[in-house]
Amino acid sequence: MKRNCLAIVLAAGEGTRMASLRSKALHAVAGQSLLAHVLCTVREFAADTAVVIGPGQDAVAAEALRIIPRAEFFVQAERRGTAHAVLAARAAIERGYDIVLVVFGDTPLIRSATLVRLRDAVAAGAALAVLGFHAADPSGYGRLVTEGGTLVAIREEKDASEAERAIRLCNAGVMAIRGDVALALLDRVDDRNAKREFYLTDVVAIARAMGLRATALETEEDEVLGINTRAQLAQAEAALQKRLRDKALAGGVSMTAPETVFLANDTVLGKDVIIEPYVVFGPGVVIEDGALIRSFSHLEGAHVGKGARVGPFARLRPGAQLGAEVHIGNFVEVKAAAIEAGAKVNHLTYIGDARVGEGANVGAGTITCNYDGVAKHRTDIGKGAFIGSNTALVAPVTIGDGAYVGSGSVITGNVPANALALGRARQVVKEKWRPPLRKAKSGGKSKAADED
Ligand code: UD1
Ligand code: CA
Repeated sequence: MKRNCLAIVLAAGEGTRMASLRSKALHAVAGQSLLAHVLCTVREFAADTAVVIGPGQDAVAAEALRIIPRAEFFVQAERRGTAHAVLAARAAIERGYDIVLVVFGDTPLIRSATLVRLRDAVAAGAALAVLGFHAADPSGYGRLVTEGGTLVAIREEKDASEAERAIRLCNAGVMAIRGDVALALLDRVDDRNAKREFYLTDVVAIARAMGLRATALETEEDEVLGINTRAQLAQAEAALQKRLRDKALAGGVSMTAPETVFLANDTVLGKDVIIEPYVVFGPGVVIEDGALIRSFSHLEGAHVGKGARVGPFARLRPGAQLGAEVHIGNFVEVKAAAIEAGAKVNHLTYIGDARVGEGANVGAGTITCNYDGVAKHRTDIGKGAFIGSNTALVAPVTIGDGAYVGSGSVITGNVPANALALGRARQVVKEKWRPPLRKAKSGGKSKAADED
């Protein structure tokens, strides 16, 4: 039985031009790997996904499985070109699909709507459809060679004549091929070219020679930026940030200086959220309606409840769960902790592996001492409790509901509900301790005065 669409995602090779020890596909934009971006787009409509990786690229496979748990993997033993890479997935293609869609793992901004357009062009009768764009700077890209508006070939830059190099219409790298001719086309590709590689792009001329129709669709350059260098990685980041900010603004978020706010691909922002300038969102952040995120805050893996206020200069780390109307102030770090509704942690504080009960107030300079050098321990602060400034809560420790901890305490034992706990040295006062100053008329200054 024929199934609809097989997506083949090419991610083999280490990306030498990135000057990196990691696979290119694992580099990130907007808090997510290049590969994850591509796979999130692909999984929206491809029935099956085959990922082509290089030998030893286990980390790439693991990343793919995180996004598509039933993805299949094919190892391209040697990096011999994009057609060679597609053929690594021959066994998948042989199963028989209506459409084989080839996507590069280094083209993270591609939209599913565009992939659907390519698929539809093939469904409508083309043997293959390629995606093109007008490049501001075409260097490095393959050029779409047309004759009277018909696509006749794709020429790689290294093989292009001077006239062909002048063509601005470039190959985005995404291609949809009719499943029943895919192998016939791919098997005819050879490596007689400047790079001695098997170019996927050759299938256009091959199709034409076989009397099959190839067609080109166009899209915006921003969507198909291919990442070969760190500079292009930064360019993709900028393009994606623009897209994410526009989406946030359209969705009811206020940003005074959107160009200074950095979002992750999965950032979820409610209505009437206000984000002040210079805020960074790592992956996994959800902000509920009406929350205020003040300047210079950094959030990652955190949930911020309705109407909560965060920052300026706050850091929310993974597992920070803020209830409604919570206040997290300047120089406060929260990690793996639930701060329940209405609680306030306003200044210079670390809350890690903890719960802060509803309406509790945590004073300036409070530290949950959660780590003993070997293991992490929990701190539990009850509803309505008051933690005086400069308190160290040595976990594991529980502060009961409504309990009060005096400032400057080091709390090593549990405090019952409504109790007062003081864990500090009693104040000592020594009357008339300071030696009297010598009278000024006696000459030089007193020693004590010099030391003041
Ligand atoms: C490719 C296209 C070029 C297009 C550009 C768009 C070819 C021959 N050239 O060039 O026309 O304008 O992308 O960005 O197709 N890969 C493998 N195995 C290989 C070679 C590549 O898996 O043997 C993967 C890479 O990991 C990458 C993708 O295929 O994700 C593209 O390879 P890359 O070397 O970046 O191709 P470009 O030179 O950019
Ligand atoms: Ca590329």
